[in-house]
Amino acid sequence: MADKQEFQDRMLSLGLARVSEAAAHASARLIGRGDEKAADQAAVNAMRDQLNMLDIKGVVVIGEGERDEAPMLFIGEEVGTGNGPAVDIALDPLEGTTLTAKDMPNALTVIAMAPRGTLLHAPDVYMDKLAIGPGYAKDVVNLDMTPGERIEALAKARGCKPSDITTCILERPRHEAMIAEVRATGAAIRLITDGDVAGVIHCAEADITGIDIYMGSGGAPEGVLAASALKCMGGQMWGRLLFRNDDERGRASKAGITDFNRIYARDDMVTADVIFAATGVTNGSIVQGVKREPGYITTETILMRSKTGSVRRMIYRNPAK
Ligand code: FBP
Repeated sequence: MADKQEFQDRMLSLGLARVSEAAAHASARLIGRGDEKAADQAAVNAMRDQLNMLDIKGVVVIGEGERDEAPMLFIGEEVGTGNGPAVDIALDPLEGTTLTAKDMPNALTVIAMAPRGTLLHAPDVYMDKLAIGPGYAKDVVNLDMTPGERIEALAKARGCKPSDITTCILERPRHEAMIAEVRATGAAIRLITDGDVAGVIHCAEADITGIDIYMGSGGAPEGVLAASALKCMGGQMWGRLLFRNDDERGRASKAGITDFNRIYARDDMVTADVIFAATGVTNGSIVQGVKREPGYITTETILMRSKTGSVRRMIYRNPAK
């Protein structure tokens, strides 16, 4: 019977915020301590404890890795009390482990929830990603365009010059040619060292963040999380899985992927209504990071529902333990 229950996105969203808040609280103690693993583990433990309090029949479809690689929140792990709607969960308990360890901006705890069977089971491989914010005609840019063509097309659609566009790209050697091509158009680039979920979300609030377009390859699991966020905020996104070897193709097959060249649009990665929560760990342009002051700990969470397009920013102050 539980499988037939309606997705109670309105009620569950507040529970989801608690999950991401708890993960941020836990990893906050490890900000700037140079220990990525400890920060990640603290976030994982806290997220799992909170998830198991929710009245859901949840399955982790995007998690910390395969069962044998991850002690907790592995792909396929069942979470929740078992009473309630059957849901898919995509999570990254600490998106930006290095950002946290080095106390650099935009580390987030991230979680999305949707009805069972509606989130892409993306394997842990790279994904070529492209994203823009709301307000543009459908498919104004696409993954088959060169980086330069994307900038020209977006500038034309916005009625501005390419030099008025700012692109966000992960700073990696594999992106050198892309960076050179974008620069050749005159567009600006905000290079980020990590955290492409935040990178993509930036496009949805271009007037606040200054980012018009995101492009480049990063983790496929992070791609599904970013698509969930954009589905709530508005904006377009595309992703294509990238495989470096047979082991990665094997992972994809195991996850049920049959067409290895498919381009997934946002709504192919997230096929039904979704709820999304992210809490700032370190300060960022989307939400503020955890603030610790004598006696209190304060977090900021962005909580969104695609059904209504509602975007809440919630400040949570709690006595420090
Ligand atoms: P972690 O938080 O797991 O360290 O991931 C950070 C991240 O920057 C993601 O945002 C991004 O998708 C991926 O790593 C990029 O991978 P790589 O570092 O291999 O280029």
